Amino acid sequence: MKTVLVTGSNGLLGQKITEKIRAEKSVNLIATSKGADRFSFKDGYVYAEMDILNPAQVRTVIEQYKPDAIIHTAAMTNVDTCHIERKAAYQLNVVATQTLISLCEEFDIHFIHLSTDFVFDGANGPYDETAKPNPVSYYGETKLQAEELVKKSNARWAILRTILVYGIVSDMSRSNIVLWAKGALEKGNPLNIVNDQYRMPTLAEDLADACLLAVERNAQGIFHISA
Ligand SMILES: NC(=O)c1ccc[n+]([C@@H]2O[C@H](COP(=O)([O-])OP(=O)(O)OC[C@H]3O[C@@H](n4cnc5c(N)ncnc54)[C@H](OP(=O)(O)O)[C@@H]3O)[C@@H](O)[C@H]2O)c1
Repeated sequence: MKTVLVTGSNGLLGQKITEKIRAEKSVNLIATSKGADRFSFKDGYVYAEMDILNPAQVRTVIEQYKPDAIIHTAAMTNVDTCHIERKAAYQLNVVATQTLISLCEEFDIHFIHLSTDFVFDGANGPYDETAKPNPVSYYGETKLQAEELVKKSNARWAILRTILVYGIVSDMSRSNIVLWAKGALEKGNPLNIVNDQYRMPTLAEDLADACLLAVERNAQGIFHISA
């Protein structure tokens, strides 16, 4: 049975992956995130605290658990925060990704990297995997820089680009479009929504399935994953 390490396991996708692996018992899961474990159940997986900005801690955890694959979900995902806190966004989305890539090269670990439709400018969508990226936000820029590092690495790698992920998990650090709309409708508030964007909201469970398929099939290359 493969051992899979997930970064950012407290996040929306990280918790959905944990939920699936607990139910299916298809792989051994090492869930890692910054700080304490916030997933509701504590059995069926191992939790290790791992701040990806701390290279020594990352190395210790990877050497201890020797994963066959890493699903890298941790990131600074708020587009506006990335725009304002550029240095921190670069450290988390680019530098920390390189820390993980180097260890994947050293220990022959399959690296599955989560990326975004924000690597494109949106002028001529929908895009396929061969389309030329052209980010217009700093978030998109950092995610593209991370992709470039992944692509030039000697590790086995897959880049999964996804769009507007939604779902419900416990103790969420951020909301998403469906929860936002539900909350506003419940309060009887009007919804102000842009009418010039066409996007494909992606259920977090579906994205978690895609990540696990990527592990199972040793997927390599770029994949667009959306509803
Ligand atoms: N959500 C979307 O709409 C969307 C769309 C396209 C692509 N993506 C990509 O998909 C991936 C997963 O997104 P998501 O929605 O699951 O994001 P998320 O809910 O924001 O989860 C990211 C997780 O990373 C953790 N984290 C932050 N700094 C860390 C550090 N230094 N060390 C370890 N963990 C750290 C966060 O911890 P805290 O919770 O403690 O802050 C958070 O739990 C990301 O790479 C994102 O760029 C997401």
